[in-house]
Amino acid sequence: MLFLQLPLLVVLLPGGDNKDDFQEPVSFQLIQISSFYNRSSEENLGSGWLGELQTHGWESNSGTIFFLWPWSKGNFSNEEWMDLKESLHTMSIGFLQALHDYASQWQLEYPFEVQLAGGCDLHLEEASIGFIRIAYQGSDLVSFQKNSWLPSPNGGSRAQHICTLFNSDKDALEILHKLFFETCPRFLMGLLDAGKAYLQRQVRPEAWLSTGPSPGPDHLMLVCHVSGFHPKPIRVMWMQGEQELLGTQRSDFLPNADGTWYLQVSLDVEAIEAAGLSCHVKHSSLGDQEIILFWERRRSMVLIFLAVIVPLVLLTGLAFWLRKCWTPCEPASPLRPLV
Ligand SMILES: *[C@@H]1O[C@H](CO)[C@@H](O)[C@H](O)[C@H]1NC(C)=O
Repeated sequence: MLFLQLPLLVVLLPGGDNKDDFQEPVSFQLIQISSFYNRSSEENLGSGWLGELQTHGWESNSGTIFFLWPWSKGNFSNEEWMDLKESLHTMSIGFLQALHDYASQWQLEYPFEVQLAGGCDLHLEEASIGFIRIAYQGSDLVSFQKNSWLPSPNGGSRAQHICTLFNSDKDALEILHKLFFETCPRFLMGLLDAGKAYLQRQVRPEAWLSTGPSPGPDHLMLVCHVSGFHPKPIRVMWMQGEQELLGTQRSDFLPNADGTWYLQVSLDVEAIEAAGLSCHVKHSSLGDQEIILFWERRRSMVLIFLAVIVPLVLLTGLAFWLRKCWTPCEPASPLRPLV
């Protein structure tokens, strides 16, 4: 199983203070993806994520941390960032070196991919939980729990060997515990606070209707598109009068470049039953109101559009044609007296 699913979504509710605003859990994590090409060469891709939002870049070869938002520093001072950068860099180098050194002993065959995710979940009621997970070729290998490394169920003897080695370094265990069970939750709290205005922004969705690929003869695929909304939770329904229609297909949430979301909800109906159906959108940015789009009204809007625009275009065309014809018929201007 691929462990590297992005963490649980950050669901933000308006109002209130700090972590009470968040439906739990909220997580922050660092991700490092390392491609080991051969004994002497590997490439790393590092990043920091608040839920599904990337907040940091991490150039793990030099240890440089990039702040992708004005609030990405959270409430940590520059000194704290320097220390953090040092610790992460040292650990990362040690980790990569260990994989190279023990590659043959652990039967890691070049080229291979190692994914690492380390961070913390913030829970409302319970204490926050730190975690580190490491995967080899896309499968869980070992994880760090509280203060020691445990092999994953399907990690085999390779995972056992790695845990034995990693657990023998007591100083490293202590540093990891401190970093992911203490520093990380403290950082996450500060980050949520610093980024509050952005994370809790309310952006209203736009909605429109279209037909999708025909599902069969005499059937229509009605598609309700909703885009540009934030935060992510939204309710989109196809309805007949007061009744919600079941059997709709909901797409995945797709991110827009500006951090808002896009979703589409489709309904397969018999063509003659489409008239009068409506798509309803409820979202926190709309308050008590909802967006309602009628299939029929949309069609009549198209008809009105055609009824107005087509004659207008024809008239304009005619006017141009007449002008074009008349202009050369006027006497050439140089021959005209000026006064
Ligand atoms: C290791 O891999 C890198 C990147 O593919 C390559 O440039 C380099 O020549 C390789 N080195 C050896 C010793 O094979």
